Amino acid sequence: MSAKINVDRLQEGLCTKRFGRRLCFLREVGSTNDLAKELAAKGAVEGTVVLAEKQTAGRGRLDREWISPKGGLYFSVILRPNIGASEVVKLVFVAGFAVAEVLDEVYGLRVETKWPNDVLVNGKKICGILSEMNTSGEKVNYAILGVGVNANINIGKEFPEELKAIATSLESELGRKVGLEGLFRALLERLEEVYERFLKEGFVLILEKWKRYAGFLGGQVEVVSEAGSLCGLALDVDDDGALVLRLEDGAGKRVFVGDLSLRMKNEFIRFVEGCEFGEFKRHLDRLGVYKEEGEREKLRAFLRNGLFNLIVWRKNDEVVGHAIWHESNTEEHREGDPREEEDREALRKLLGGKEDFVELHEVWLLEEHRGKGYGEKFFEFFEEYMRSKGYDGIVFYAHHPAALAICRKRGYREGGFIHIEGVAEYGFYLPLRK
Ligand code: BTN
Repeated sequence: MSAKINVDRLQEGLCTKRFGRRLCFLREVGSTNDLAKELAAKGAVEGTVVLAEKQTAGRGRLDREWISPKGGLYFSVILRPNIGASEVVKLVFVAGFAVAEVLDEVYGLRVETKWPNDVLVNGKKICGILSEMNTSGEKVNYAILGVGVNANINIGKEFPEELKAIATSLESELGRKVGLEGLFRALLERLEEVYERFLKEGFVLILEKWKRYAGFLGGQVEVVSEAGSLCGLALDVDDDGALVLRLEDGAGKRVFVGDLSLRMKNEFIRFVEGCEFGEFKRHLDRLGVYKEEGEREKLRAFLRNGLFNLIVWRKNDEVVGHAIWHESNTEEHREGDPREEEDREALRKLLGGKEDFVELHEVWLLEEHRGKGYGEKFFEFFEEYMRSKGYDGIVFYAHHPAALAICRKRGYREGGFIHIEGVAEYGFYLPLRK
């Protein structure tokens, strides 16, 4: 596989409507973003792409250099979205998600997204994204989305010492070179598809999907910016693209700019929304639950249709526990599942008039990981997470003595037995707001 890009094969079979239909290819350029800006200023249409085999002045975020030897893929797309200037930041999530999906689906790699604009494989950076814009007030004249992928690069040889431990390439991960033309087409096609969905359906859907890859969520992180460094628990990325942190002193903080690093990643247990179902099934096998015929399919359907939400507990990236939650109210347990009058009464009493709560079920942890304080860490995480989402409180049904003890210690109100799908469960409630 040659490091040289075959120009004739770049557009061959390219299934896009606009992206890459106009293509400016160079063997070498300063920065594809800079050239794309020049073309955009001269009126180049949306979807025009600048692609180079090598960059001599590749740029990264925060004015850093982007090492761009031959063998990598460096391209910039000119966009003219009808969005406000403050929304352009969302484009890096659009691109990050598109790249993550391609690396996952086409190359079968273990991909993660890292706030705000990195794509990692096995914890090391494989792709960077740089969005830049030209505006008149809030109006966006054009945006440039630059993508750099370490493809056929020998990191040990080509990268400076300080980056060797934190960068990787497709070649290093796969143990072989990849076709750059095919990679370019796959990325461009997915990028156009995700960009169009973003414009049509909005940011939230894309962000939710981006978060499925966001391994740092639920972990302890450090964010470094010009303003200094902040340490805390990464709770969420909100609909503006801001990172939601709980700082070490317990205060909440939204962060818009910065560099994120995971602190002592492997010693921490992380709590992450969602999980690929095959992996979750293996975890259920280890727990020895949902064994009856049809139970797993039913659970999967509930998760797919958004009736249940899954949080998995990862330790050293292995799933060791899980919890399931859903929105609820005093009238219905879940949508379409009405409560008995006496249960409504019991809940009203317990909730003191609040209505907007979530129910937490199945806080389950593998036997060998019990007794290490993970349960408490989970409750700490879950409470903050739900507070950041704006819910009034949490109702939790506890069976296990350890869970009962945690609820009591954390100040949950006890509410006696409430019926859930015909079974009487012992309920606890924690108000999240005054
Ligand atoms: C980062 O992670 O800091 C962002 C890196 C973005 C690199 C790409 S390569 C193509 C385009 N041209 C540039 O000069 N930068 C972007």
